[in-house]
This record gives sequence, C-alpha cells and structure tokens, in this order.
Amino acid sequence: MITDYRVDDKYIVSMTEHTEEYKPLRIILIGYMGAGKTTVGRALSKELNIPFYDLDWYIESRMRKTVKQIFDERGEEGFRMIEQSMLHEVAEFENVIISCGGGTPCFFDNMEYMNGQAETVYLKAETDVLYKHLLMGKSVRPLLLNKTADEVNLFIREQIKHREPFYTKAKHVLDVSLMDSYDKIQISVNQLCQLLKLNNCLLYTSPSPRDVEE
Ligand code: S3P
Repeated sequence: MITDYRVDDKYIVSMTEHTEEYKPLRIILIGYMGAGKTTVGRALSKELNIPFYDLDWYIESRMRKTVKQIFDERGEEGFRMIEQSMLHEVAEFENVIISCGGGTPCFFDNMEYMNGQAETVYLKAETDVLYKHLLMGKSVRPLLLNKTADEVNLFIREQIKHREPFYTKAKHVLDVSLMDSYDKIQISVNQLCQLLKLNNCLLYTSPSPRDVEE
C-alpha cells in the first residue's frame, strides 16, 4: 500500500510501507463542468513543477478541431469515442496532472481505467457554485449551448444525480468552493497536496504573527 509520495528533482517515488519503489505519479482530476478542474490542475502543476494536461485541450490539439466542432460533426457518441482514446494516450504519460471533461468518468469503463492508472480526485462543488460558474462559460460547452439560465440550472441538477455515482468511484474526494480568487485556488491546492500526501509540495500558509512583526 502506498503511504506517501516524495517529489524528487528528477522523478517521483512512491513510498510504500516497506520499500521505496519507483512509481510515476499521475493525478487525474474529475468532476462536473465548472468545478474548477482546469484551474486547480494548472495551479497544482506549478506547485509540483510537473506537466499539466487538460483532456479537452489535448483532444482539440490532436484533432485540430474544437470540442464544439467535434460534437457538431460526430454527435456526442462520436465525441465520447475520441475522448476515450485520447484519455488512454494522456494517462500513459508519467508524472503528470490531468484534468478530464465532466462526462469522461461516465462513459465506457473510463472510471475503472483511470483508477488503475492514477490517483483520481473528485472535485466536488455545490450545484449553486457550478451554476454560477457555468453561466459564464456556457458558450464553449456544447451540452449547455442553447439553454436558458433556468434550463441550465435544471440540467445541472438532473445530470449531477446521474453522474455522482461515477464520480464517487474516485479514490479521493475534495470539496471545493467557487475558484474566484488566488487564495481560494491555493487553499484547494494545499488541501489536495495533503490529501495525496505530497510531502515536498510547498504549502501555502498565511504569514504567522511573528513573520508580520519582522
Ligand atoms: C462535458 C464537459 C466538457 C467537455 C464537453 C462535455 C460533459 O469539459 O468535455 O463539453 O459532458 O460534462 P469540462 O468539464 O472541462 O467543461
């Protein structure tokens, strides 16, 4: 059983109870659209100094098409097949952080596959937080595109019920709030480091009274 990770200069080793063995670190962030997977993933990648891949961006650069274009041309079914095959590419990379699309865990055996490859973390946000965030970013999300604000609200609530059983298969769960400031992002990053026992991760701390006096 893995008890800890040590982030070394060149590689990341997992510390097991009895031995120290090389095991690449892969962190996969899952959760509903608007939960902050990309924001947290990018910030954590800076903290640990390892690459970050957003699965949607990876798909777009490999296919040379936007997610919306793929939905338009191949429908959701076509998109899900491409998504699965691209997931299998990025999840082979070593020492990386990956954020996947909100639907990725809910198709095929993607969730089981991700659990076999990585430390999976479900970023769990309140529906109101998702709603606030998604109203701003609905134009790039084909599933929300032609919906009114009320329809988006209803859609999120209905879809979460269906998706939650897939999300909760993740190895870890992290409660997150609206990522609307640097401090909030950093707090989630620190909590994530603690959850994953990334002991060399630089922890963000507010200055102690002593530091302030000096
Ligand atoms: C989807 C989420 C999107 C993107 C696609 C479908 C979903 O990713 O993969 O629009 O089914 O929830 P984000 O969760 O990054 O928005």
